[in-house]
Amino acid sequence: MRQVMIFAVGVALAALGAPIDRSLAEEVVVASPDNNIIVTLTDDGGAARYSAAFNGDQVVAPSALGILFADDFGFDRGLQIASVERRTHDESWEQPWGEDRLVRDHYNEVAVTFTSNDGPRRRMVVRMRVFDDGVGFRYEVPKQAAFRSRVEIVNELTEFTVDPATTAWWIPSRGWNRYEYLYEETPATEALLAHTPMTMKTPGGVYLSIHEAALVDYSGMSLKQSREGRFKADLSPWSDGVLVKTRLPFKTPWRTIQIGARAVDLMNSRLILNLNEPNALGDVSWVEPGKYVGIWWAMHIRDRSWGNDTIHGATTEETIRYMDFAEKHGFKGVLVEGWNIGWDGDWFNNGSLFRFTEPYPDFDIDAIAAHAEKTGVRLVGHHETSGDVTNYENQLDDAFDLYEKSGVRQVKTGYVADGGRLERTDKRGVRHYEWHDGQFAVDHHLSVVRKAAEHRISINPHEPVKDTGLRRTYPNWISREGARGQEYNAWAIPPNPPEHTAIIPFTRMLSGPMDFTPGIFDLRPNERPPLRPDMPRSDTRSRVETTLAKQLSLYVVLYSPIQMAADLPENYEKHPEAFQFIKDVPTDWEKSVALEGEIGEFVVVARQERGGTDWYLGALTDEKARELSVSLDFLESGKSYTAEIYRDGEKADYDENPYDIVIERRDVTSETVLALPLSTGGGAAVRFRVK
Ligand code: NOJ
Ligand code: CA
Repeated sequence: MRQVMIFAVGVALAALGAPIDRSLAEEVVVASPDNNIIVTLTDDGGAARYSAAFNGDQVVAPSALGILFADDFGFDRGLQIASVERRTHDESWEQPWGEDRLVRDHYNEVAVTFTSNDGPRRRMVVRMRVFDDGVGFRYEVPKQAAFRSRVEIVNELTEFTVDPATTAWWIPSRGWNRYEYLYEETPATEALLAHTPMTMKTPGGVYLSIHEAALVDYSGMSLKQSREGRFKADLSPWSDGVLVKTRLPFKTPWRTIQIGARAVDLMNSRLILNLNEPNALGDVSWVEPGKYVGIWWAMHIRDRSWGNDTIHGATTEETIRYMDFAEKHGFKGVLVEGWNIGWDGDWFNNGSLFRFTEPYPDFDIDAIAAHAEKTGVRLVGHHETSGDVTNYENQLDDAFDLYEKSGVRQVKTGYVADGGRLERTDKRGVRHYEWHDGQFAVDHHLSVVRKAAEHRISINPHEPVKDTGLRRTYPNWISREGARGQEYNAWAIPPNPPEHTAIIPFTRMLSGPMDFTPGIFDLRPNERPPLRPDMPRSDTRSRVETTLAKQLSLYVVLYSPIQMAADLPENYEKHPEAFQFIKDVPTDWEKSVALEGEIGEFVVVARQERGGTDWYLGALTDEKARELSVSLDFLESGKSYTAEIYRDGEKADYDENPYDIVIERRDVTSETVLALPLSTGGGAAVRFRVK
């Protein structure tokens, strides 16, 4: 009787268009604002499931939802939809820095409460948001009598079921090299355990990317193929096997599916950011986007060493040389790696030796801070942990104190350690090894970012936990690595192939900014003579498989609010005209738009500088040469612009002739269709100056 009444009330409220309807419906349907995406949730057969369709075609087949707990009872069976709340949201919000100043957050939402009558009576909410560019959903488990307040999650049942004939671009998850793998393009059925974002193209030509948003106090999600085309959430476990240790009430991160008709729709989606909480830090005017140089590439090409030996890179003199170079050319910071005790010998495996407040004797941090003050160029800090997280946490306060007092506003952190080898020492002094994206690492990274904020310092982690859009909530989480970056072109065999930078805009970069460190001008480190015969690993110097023009294009294509001009000052001085583009290109944007591209083939991106009127464009290709015709209709109509074009020369070729570059000017308007020839492994960069 009571149920009948609730049903009647539900129907009546629905008829009045009221936001709450407590019907007993077994199927809940929610559409995107433009009606192109339709998501259906059911409790059919006592299990929670969802599916999604795009333009009338099912792109996610019925897929499981649910969670299991260590006490055996979970949300996997005996479930019933008990209530449904609907809501629509449409609001634009402003980013303190970013690829767009204004972001529109527009979705239809349902919050579906499932109750379980198998075992203790428990309830969970699945909150589903459907945007024009995809779907996000999370579980919320409220405080309730049928749970103890501490809970351990031992299985998350979420699935994403796609057509087995789908193509996927993916990297393996939980390998020794963390996220630093080359992407595979294979039938989705070959992706057995994949990291996210995993991007796909269905046989019907729809582009999908699965990832997560707002990964807070939970373990990172990988995708494990449990049946052909069925990808199941696979959370990185703690060293004791538990997946997540939490308390009630809790909310999981959002599980996200970006959906588009064109590959570039994924790049233009802001869904991950929209699913994060607003800025929690208040005034963040101290967070400084901008460009930096650094004592960095010299170590990667083995000209210098991190350790304190005869070719030590981080000396006072060398830092001052870089600061003077930065001042002359308008860069804001100088990154210095290898300045502190701990780098001598095998630093890869000796994280406990790092001292974050003890400089080597040839690095006079006070003199450097004084020079920074004089030149207006900041020291960019560096904390390599080699994966010994407890050693780092024990020194964190003092480490940030020292940097704050030295005028540092940005610290790059590093977690070089094989996957699953982050060291955690517990209260009893027992050492454990944890994953780079397990809950331990997730909590650690956020605690560093929060602590840094107290010192008005921004954080740029390498070998990080993956990005899930937390820069919205913590704008001092300014960038990160988390993919194969430029460093591989210094020493890896093979280096990054030309297609790499045509894949990551559609995969890794969907998660957020990357500190890729573009701008290498000496493209053949492998041809440099060794500085000394015993140079460590001198036999593994590698080469850069791009043209010079493509290095410039990376500043526009690969978004980061901080961008490094990664090469040595002397190499920039050899190419002053091409260097001009790096000096000019902004790192903070009013708007960004990915114009065209195909995954692993080519991509064209245009961005308008923030606080100005100029536009910039970056275009790049894989190993195939192409002639692009780019419509400039993004420019303001009625205005004339001078296009300063940096493009591959006629004879350019990444393999044989990478330095052939043409720098030319043309008058253009929004009506112009610009022809851009890209050579093999090539690219183009353009600045459009308002006349
Ligand atoms: C790996 C980082 O990606 C790189 O940028 C850094 O120079 C080394 N670790 C040393 O910390
Ligand atoms: Ca790295």
